[in-house]
Amino acid sequence: MKKIRVFSGIQPSGDMHLGNYLGAVKQWVENQDKEKENFYCIVDLHAHTILRDAKELRDNIRSLAAMLFACGLDPNKSTVFIQSQVRAHAEACWLLNCVTPIGWLERMTQYKDKKEKLNSISAALLDYPVLQTGDIILYDANEVPIGEDQKQHVELARDIAQRFNNLFGETFVLPDPIIPSVGARVMNLSNPLSKMSKSFDEDESGVVGLLDDDNSILKTIKRAVTDSGNQIVFSNDKENAGVNNLLGIYKVITGKSSMQVEKDFANAKGYGVLKESVAELVLGIITPIRAKYKEYISDPQELDKLLEVGAENARTISEPKVSEMKERMGFI
Ligand code: AMP
Ligand code: TRP
Repeated sequence: MKKIRVFSGIQPSGDMHLGNYLGAVKQWVENQDKEKENFYCIVDLHAHTILRDAKELRDNIRSLAAMLFACGLDPNKSTVFIQSQVRAHAEACWLLNCVTPIGWLERMTQYKDKKEKLNSISAALLDYPVLQTGDIILYDANEVPIGEDQKQHVELARDIAQRFNNLFGETFVLPDPIIPSVGARVMNLSNPLSKMSKSFDEDESGVVGLLDDDNSILKTIKRAVTDSGNQIVFSNDKENAGVNNLLGIYKVITGKSSMQVEKDFANAKGYGVLKESVAELVLGIITPIRAKYKEYISDPQELDKLLEVGAENARTISEPKVSEMKERMGFI
């Protein structure tokens, strides 16, 4: 039987944070123990839709690679590679541009958000989801494990793949977004109404970076915004957003049910205990990751070697696929 194929990506646009880990990368690591074929991509071409500094990008790419291996991606179980090292991605993007109605791109919420926050935007920013579509469908991926914010992009990938199939014959598998039931949307600890993100517009004081030191992580969690009550229960009320977020983080790390989580804090007086428990759990995850990260980052040659093996494997699948696309479209 054909194995389920999994593809996902992450941008090298700054240090990885707890949201990336709990929303996406944790699932990627867990997938390795299932009978699946895994592809995880450092999407550097996507990062340049906003980032403009060459040195920063170079540093970010190696740092993210070291971080992904430190989190538990195993080059023997997953194909981990850099998008720009596999030419088929940029080529597929052009071909898919030719079949994508511009209105589909203009209604993407992430594009609309970013457009509002930036003074000048590149054509690539609008085209971002088409590049992402190519990433996914070049590998005939069945599953795309991502956080909630990427759901719309994966649904668009389905639509574009379907349109290509209709126009030129069955070429692509239609992918499904796989979103974790908890952890899919980790919120900023200082501003729990907005998602945790290391991008240009976020309140950094509420972001837990995987490379932050213990003290600053403790501070970030202890300072987390909560409401003025003292009930520690899940609820979707706006005022409860901070407590909900902390409980969500606790729940996804411990793997307990919501009822069990609420029971754990039923007798707690105030939010201090909740924050301490969350801090302890988060440090328990991050401390060993940081130690492994230091090992990987100290040997860039070995890191580049691992990434080249990944790229080589990715090419064996994506190159014939892009050739098939071109043939079907009439290129000779
Ligand atoms: P990015 O850093 O934007 O490339 O995102 C990489 C992955 O992390 C994607 O699957 C996102 O959906 C996921 N992700 C990013 N921020 C969060 C967040 N605050 N909560 C949960 N998942 C997130
Ligand atoms: N746009 C995604 C993000 O910001 C990253 C990404 C690029 C991606 N290509 C992908 C995710 C393919 C899943 C599949 O998180």
